[in-house]
Amino acid sequence: MDREKIDEVFKKVTNGVYIVTTKYDNKINGMTAAWVTRVSFVPPLVLISIGKTRFSHDLIKNSGVFAVNILKEGQIEIGKHFGFQSGRKVDKFANIPYDTKTTGSPILKDLAGYLDCKVVSAFEAGDHTVFLGEVLDASLDKGAKPLIYRKEEFFG
Ligand SMILES: Cc1cc2nc3c(=O)[nH]c(=O)nc-3n(C[C@H](O)[C@H](O)[C@H](O)COP(=O)(O)O)c2cc1C
Repeated sequence: MDREKIDEVFKKVTNGVYIVTTKYDNKINGMTAAWVTRVSFVPPLVLISIGKTRFSHDLIKNSGVFAVNILKEGQIEIGKHFGFQSGRKVDKFANIPYDTKTTGSPILKDLAGYLDCKVVSAFEAGDHTVFLGEVLDASLDKGAKPLIYRKEEFFG
C-alpha cells in the first residue's frame, strides 16, 4: 500500500504536542514530539519515539533520562521553535526559561504539565528508536487544555 495513503489515515490517530527534553553531560536540548503515549499504570510508563537522526536521540541514549513537557492550547510557536531546528546548530534554550526536577532534564515554565522520566528500555522501531520511560516526577496545571496535534498547523 502506498505511503501517502497510510499517512493520510494516520491523520485520524490523535496525539498531543510535547517538548521532549534531556540533559547529557553539560548539554541540554529539547525537541518537539507528537509520538508520545502512556503504556502502563504500574509502574507508570511513557513511550517516546525518536528519529535516529535527531540530535536528541543520542543525548537521550547516553543520558538515560528525558522529560515530556506537555504543551497547552496556543503554544504552537513553541512547538515550531523546538521542532524545526536542531540543537546541533542552535541553543534552543537560549531565550527559554526552564527549571529542572529529578532527572535534570529541562522543564519549561508555562505548561499543561510535565513527566520527568528515566529510560528503562529502548528498542529500534524502523527509522526511530522507542524509549520507554518510568515517570519519576510529574505535575500539571489543572485548568490548562493540552495542545492537540494537527498536522496542517505545523506542516501547512
Ligand atoms: C509537531 C511536530 C511533531 C514532531 N514529532 C516528532 C516525534 O514524535 N519524533 C521525532 O523523532 N521527531 C518529531 N518531530 C521532529 C523533531 O522535533 C525535529 O526533527 C527537531 O528539529 C529535532 O531536534 P534535535 O535535532 O535538536 O533533537 C516533530 C516535529 C514537529 C514540528
